[in-house]
Amino acid sequence: MAFLQKIFRNYVFTTTLVVVSISIIIGSQISQALSYSLAQVNTNNYQLGKELYLQNCSSCHIPIPAEVLPTATWQTILEKPGRHYGTSLPRLSNINVRLIWNYLRTSSRPLLERELKPEFVTQSRYFKALHPQVHLPQPVTHQSCILCHPGANKLDYVSLSSEFE
Ligand code: HEC
Ligand code: HEC
Repeated sequence: MAFLQKIFRNYVFTTTLVVVSISIIIGSQISQALSYSLAQVNTNNYQLGKELYLQNCSSCHIPIPAEVLPTATWQTILEKPGRHYGTSLPRLSNINVRLIWNYLRTSSRPLLERELKPEFVTQSRYFKALHPQVHLPQPVTHQSCILCHPGANKLDYVSLSSEFE
């Protein structure tokens, strides 16, 4: 009997060992695959970032184009979702924040040295620079963009209303 017990114990031990090793191997492969896909997504997937921006940043106001504000302003907006112009934004996953950041960073320009960081589009010299000789209704807010940019809701700021074409 003692002999059989020993074989049985050995059997249980070996099986456990095999199961544990297999799960470790599978587990590490899954996490490898995951970190691989995260790394792939991370590296400048501009189009995906833009789509996520559109999905997450256009429900309360039109999607504001990256070009009209300096990179530093976008950074603050993404870093402080809890303090968003008097309201609070729903939390985004880390990966979504990074993709959106990639889109915003790629399409905006840095602040000049000693330049004050604009909070609103109207205060931004990039917004002004994109509208040379355009007579803008005052005050300019994100609500007036659509008057001249009929595609603003879809982040299309190239199309212009007929009076400008
Ligand atoms: C829950 C609603 C809500 C969501 C979602 C939201 N915002 Fe806002 N946002 C506001 C409000 C409210 C203001 C204040 C301006 C206003 O509408 O009067 C504002 C203002 C802004 C402004 C300044 C606009 C201007 O007139 O100069 C920017 C830039 C901005 N949001 C970017 C973003 C970005 C980027 C996201 C996505 C990460 C986002 N917002 C998502 C509510 C929201
Ligand atoms: C009174 C009309 C008018 C209003 C209001 C207006 N725009 Fe424009 N916008 C124009 C015109 C016209 C151009 C093209 C200017 C040029 O090419 O010289 C332009 C160009 C742009 C461009 C560059 C597009 C490109 O070709 O890449 C962006 C971005 C833009 N506007 C964003 C905005 C945003 C954001 C708002 C609202 C805060 C806004 N505009 C409000 C008329 C307007």
